[in-house]
Amino acid sequence: MRNRIAVLLVVCTLAAGTLAAASPASKVDVERGAYLVRISSCNHCHTPLKTGPKGPEPDMTRMLTGHPAELKMPPAPDLGKGPWVWAAAVTNTAFAGPWGVSYAPNLTPDPETGLGKWTEKMFIAAMRSGHHLGKGRPILPPMPWDSMSAATDKDLKAMFAYLKSLPPVKNAVPEPGEPPRATP
Ligand code: HEC
Repeated sequence: MRNRIAVLLVVCTLAAGTLAAASPASKVDVERGAYLVRISSCNHCHTPLKTGPKGPEPDMTRMLTGHPAELKMPPAPDLGKGPWVWAAAVTNTAFAGPWGVSYAPNLTPDPETGLGKWTEKMFIAAMRSGHHLGKGRPILPPMPWDSMSAATDKDLKAMFAYLKSLPPVKNAVPEPGEPPRATP
């Protein structure tokens, strides 16, 4: 009898181990990630604004889906010599400044247009280095990667786990564009 209990315990432990290996992020990580994404204002730029009864508000039906593909932006305004130096779209998802035109990408796990093919390692490397996928072109303003680079691995992992847990939404965000024309 004692042997049987021992075998049962071993089987249960193995099964629990397999389950843990099969679920990469725990519920706790995902919940903490949701909290961190919320307080780090990711929605501020990655969720388009819409006009509500009290003025602009994030359109949570498009939460973290980035710049809406159907909103084609006209050429960026020429702001001359300043002191105004940058402009933002009405959705707060497209930005134009001396760095060119940048669009907040889709952070949902859609494999073609979002973070679906990203690994946790790529996400951490991008946030730590300020380079696309951790090794490509520099990540453009106003993405606050430098603030995020101060986050612990644990927190970055939790944020990524949360983003990966979102329903995937197809929304192809344009590539960054050229800087606005210089004033003659
Ligand atoms: C002030 C606006 C703003 C805020 C706030 C913001 N982002 Fe971004 N984010 C952007 C823009 C714009 C880009 C595109 C930059 C580019 O194309 O180089 C971007 C790019 C990214 C990328 C792609 C990086 C890469 O390697 O290409 C990720 C991932 C990302 N943001 C995640 C987040 C997360 C998570 C948060 C919250 C902690 C956040 N962003 C907050 C504007 C913002």
